[in-house]
Amino acid sequence: MKMMMMPWMRVLLAAWLLATHVEGMVRHYKFNVVAKRTNRLCSTKPIVTVNGRFPGPTVYAREDDTVLVKVVNHVSYNVSIHWHGVRQLRTGWADGPAYITQCPIQPGQVYTYNFTLTGQRGTLLWHAHILWLRATVHGALIILPRLGVPYPFPTPHKEKVIVLAEWWKSDVEAVIDEAMKSGGAPNVSDAHTINSRPGPVANCPQGGYKLAVRPGKTYMLRIINAALNEELFFKIARHQLTVVEVDAAYVKPLRTNAIVVGPGQTTTALLTANHTTGMYLITTSTFMDSPIRIDNVTATATLHYVGTPEASPAVPTATPPPNATWVAESFVGSLRSLNTNTYPARVPLEIDHSLFFTIGLGVNPCATCTSGFRVAADFNNISFVMPHTALLSAHYYNTTGVFTDDFPAKPLIEFNYTGTQPTNVNTMNGTRLYRLPYNSTVQLVLQDTGMIAPENHPIHLHGFNFFVVGRGLGNFDRFEDPRKFNLVDPVERNTIGVPSGGWAAIRFRADNPGVWFMHCHLEVHTTWGLKMAFVVDDGEGPDQSVLPPPSDLPKC
Ligand code: C2O
Repeated sequence: MKMMMMPWMRVLLAAWLLATHVEGMVRHYKFNVVAKRTNRLCSTKPIVTVNGRFPGPTVYAREDDTVLVKVVNHVSYNVSIHWHGVRQLRTGWADGPAYITQCPIQPGQVYTYNFTLTGQRGTLLWHAHILWLRATVHGALIILPRLGVPYPFPTPHKEKVIVLAEWWKSDVEAVIDEAMKSGGAPNVSDAHTINSRPGPVANCPQGGYKLAVRPGKTYMLRIINAALNEELFFKIARHQLTVVEVDAAYVKPLRTNAIVVGPGQTTTALLTANHTTGMYLITTSTFMDSPIRIDNVTATATLHYVGTPEASPAVPTATPPPNATWVAESFVGSLRSLNTNTYPARVPLEIDHSLFFTIGLGVNPCATCTSGFRVAADFNNISFVMPHTALLSAHYYNTTGVFTDDFPAKPLIEFNYTGTQPTNVNTMNGTRLYRLPYNSTVQLVLQDTGMIAPENHPIHLHGFNFFVVGRGLGNFDRFEDPRKFNLVDPVERNTIGVPSGGWAAIRFRADNPGVWFMHCHLEVHTTWGLKMAFVVDDGEGPDQSVLPPPSDLPKC
């Protein structure tokens, strides 16, 4: 029997389609946090993983979808998971940094992260946000465009996730525990990995990751730096990459030989297989332009044209030297927002809060440390002290005594930040936050200092994307440098490398109420105190306040 579609049915169908289009789907994931033995790098020690996998499972969703991830903690460590770069509009409870927005998920406990993906599309990552567990507890988070919405670039033949990471032969928690006891720096990693494989390593016949391609086709590489402590270069022999998106925001297509990705950053690039046959080396190696100990082992993978015999030698590529500032700077400085009618760059032009934070290291006396002192790190000379309960709960329930909101808008003592270091290198301690009214606009200048050593710091802000309106070397000049700001199409990101002995200026609108962590994404610096948080008050409007906490929110 043939059924006629009555006009009212059409109206209903259209309304339903529209509703589902706007609301998106609900995607369910289950993350079992388990210890798993692995033979990577010829070591058989168990590592902490999600679902026994390293890297962990990829979370796929579309813009407007709601994602529910049930996390079950089967290991003996406390756990929490962060959805790095997800805006979490009003849902800070699902953001994940332990003691900032939630108490950790204790052994045997369960918590379901519940969040909606709004106004973002591209590649992000998820990772553990407690201790150093993110070394092995991490994976990709892919936000596809809404159904029927094309990419603003030619549709690739295939998409591949490339996760870059660092590997320690010994237990990472033991590595940092030992460093905290001594007061000095932790051991650097023993290898880098590309999709969990280091490539040929001495005395360990691990093969490298193989990326199979067909001649003439274009592939989308979703490149993620999940390393703990190192910014990384990524290159493919005799192939160029066209970067189309970073940190889940589209950029003007940028052709390049090498990209640099800081920990926490993501870069989506198109790769056209424009040779007919062969194997080509893919490399990832450290970018570090200050005299600091690094893991200088290059991880390798191969680009494998289908049909090329397995045993063929791969065409090599020269990796940039670790201190290749020019390579990093020319890449980072060339990224621009796509800035079209569909994807506009809404850069705040009027500024309500103009902030200036120095980034530095320091040394404090430590009675229990074997060396008698301990290295510290800070914003505006304040090493952040982690509370014992979640800051977001303290804010939501107006609990006093957990934090203060007097984080200074500028350094308490001004000095020649990139000149000779002051004699006093001690830092202050405090759980101090900076308070922002709802919807206020912020300009934040991040100034690296020569305290102990100048260094490139990848600074990550939770809860927001920001526009990188300027970067430069030396001390920020508050009269001259703002004249050169790009307020038209600056790149939009969630993590920015502040150059060694230089500065970066970012702008954002505080349109997301809650408590939002900001820290260096070099985990060693976070451990040492290079972190702080913003508290953004509720607005007056109906959709401008933090939603009530979920009933299964972990307790401390
Ligand atoms: Cu990707 Cu607070 O971290």
